[in-house]
Amino acid sequence: MSINLSTVIAGVRFPSCLMNAAGACCVTQEELEALGRSSAGAIVTKSMTPHPRTGNPSPRYYSFEGGSINSMGLPNLGYPAYARLIPELKRFGKPIIASIAGFRSQDFVEAAQVINTANPDLMEINLSCPNIPGEPQIGYDFEGSKRLLKELRSIVQVPMGVKLPPYFDPAHHEAMAEVLNQVGVAFVSVINSLGNGLVVDPEKELVVIKPKGGFGGIGGKIIKPVALANVRAFWKLFQGQVPIIGTGGVVTGTDVFEHLLCGASAVQIGTTLVEEGLGAFERIEKELQGIFEKKGYQSPVDCRGALREL
Ligand code: DHB
Repeated sequence: MSINLSTVIAGVRFPSCLMNAAGACCVTQEELEALGRSSAGAIVTKSMTPHPRTGNPSPRYYSFEGGSINSMGLPNLGYPAYARLIPELKRFGKPIIASIAGFRSQDFVEAAQVINTANPDLMEINLSCPNIPGEPQIGYDFEGSKRLLKELRSIVQVPMGVKLPPYFDPAHHEAMAEVLNQVGVAFVSVINSLGNGLVVDPEKELVVIKPKGGFGGIGGKIIKPVALANVRAFWKLFQGQVPIIGTGGVVTGTDVFEHLLCGASAVQIGTTLVEEGLGAFERIEKELQGIFEKKGYQSPVDCRGALREL
């Protein structure tokens, strides 16, 4: 029996259903090229802004037993640099996903225009950066999200999706699904980090990262149940008709399998990649293959959304 972990999202074929999450190992040209050479199924860029940014002061990332906390503050090369890099990255023969961020809607519009001409395979509009002092996450403002996405929709010609923050109430899943149905998106990535958590070092009686008094986005193992719930909620609301990229808490092949069962077509890896390096892709791929072998699945679509309820 041959197992094939490739997947299709918005008509684009990914050689593997595993890829980096925006932000993880994808800021510089070197990092993006290393993703190209790795067994990742795509190259996802760091969320880009109009101008290059060095980001927030350090320490701004900290890992602990259950995951990580970060407040990077959008360090990135600026969209003109990524627009130049994207055509070069195509030589690796895997899809490029350009992640777009900004502070005002004009930032998103400008980036989307320029990046659109660089022709990435997909564009992921990041509505969920939690780490900019004084800037609320757009994804928690449903009307604002609708306005922005409608404007971008008229500019972007490549498949356009959104990266959403976690929602914790069905009313919010429904409100965002309604927005996305009205706009018409090609895919949904859920979830971004759990915004504005706080990790404490009790020995030192101290926060562990410097920006925002220690508040930052939580990722890794401990966010998996929230990620799975968001994948599942949007899978159901879209009745399987909008492809979902699941992100959050992926450490093992079993975690990927759970995302697929909930409805994901592909899975992004953040904290684990930062902690383990690019070898994580091969390890997790092997683990997933082992699970598929045991269960008799040949490809991710065989189990996608197949989670049973009691
Ligand atoms: C950053 C963090 C995020 O979760 C995000 O979506 C975008 C940017 C950051 O701090 O760099």
